Amino acid sequence: MFDSGLGGLSVLRELRAQLPHEDFLYVADSGHVPYGEKSDAFIRARTLAIAGFLLERRAKLLVVACNTATAAAVRELRAGCPVPVVGMEPAVKPAAAATRSGTVGVLATTGTLASAKFAALLARFGRDVRVLTEPCPGWVDLVERGDCSGPAARAAVARHVEPLLAQGADTLILGCTHYPFLKPLIAEVAGPGVALIDTGAAVARHTRAVLTAEGRLAPGPRPGSEAFFTSGEPARLGPVLARLRGTAARLDALPAAVARA
Ligand code: DGL
Repeated sequence: MFDSGLGGLSVLRELRAQLPHEDFLYVADSGHVPYGEKSDAFIRARTLAIAGFLLERRAKLLVVACNTATAAAVRELRAGCPVPVVGMEPAVKPAAAATRSGTVGVLATTGTLASAKFAALLARFGRDVRVLTEPCPGWVDLVERGDCSGPAARAAVARHVEPLLAQGADTLILGCTHYPFLKPLIAEVAGPGVALIDTGAAVARHTRAVLTAEGRLAPGPRPGSEAFFTSGEPARLGPVLARLRGTAARLDALPAAVARA
């Protein structure tokens, strides 16, 4: 699995809960974060380079734990990939079913919200509700620094959530895998009447279903392992990894050719 950085750890948490015996390889492309403001061509190149690294290490399935990379690159990735690929997209369908006010807010990166894939998702599932889109530049950087609750995070969350509330949104989609780490703050700003929806658990269920269908689910009883790699600086990112994950783990540098590609 991979993400532009450490945000995909929110997906790993859900995968681990539903797949206790699997071994996970996690690549944080922190040397190139954020993806949200980068070109599709750049994100595709990063996606293919990282996928190559994971496949060389005999990954039996790839999870693109990043909405932005899914929107920009999942089609190209699937086209040449010998193993199943699971991607992520903002949870428009469940949000449209959940809203009572008829107004849904989508918090995501600029890239995700501008993508053709997101437009298609809205056309399919967002027709009967009003969908407000809110790019949140800056949120990813906060999470990458491990600042999920300080004054800067609080101000950044309020800046993007309050306008959605003012327009009547009662359901907010966390359409970026970094954002679940800001969920307590978002919930505080939004208040108890607003539902927050993210996709980590659904993606984990889908991953489990794909592995089961392929007959590739790790049977146990051995507990699964986790190995972490980054294109950023392991010494700087290690403490943030530990904070977001809840426990410290070894974090290795990606091979230079993959980190730069
Ligand atoms: N975590 C990513 C996502 O789900 C990308 C954030 C970024 O790097 O801009 O969209």
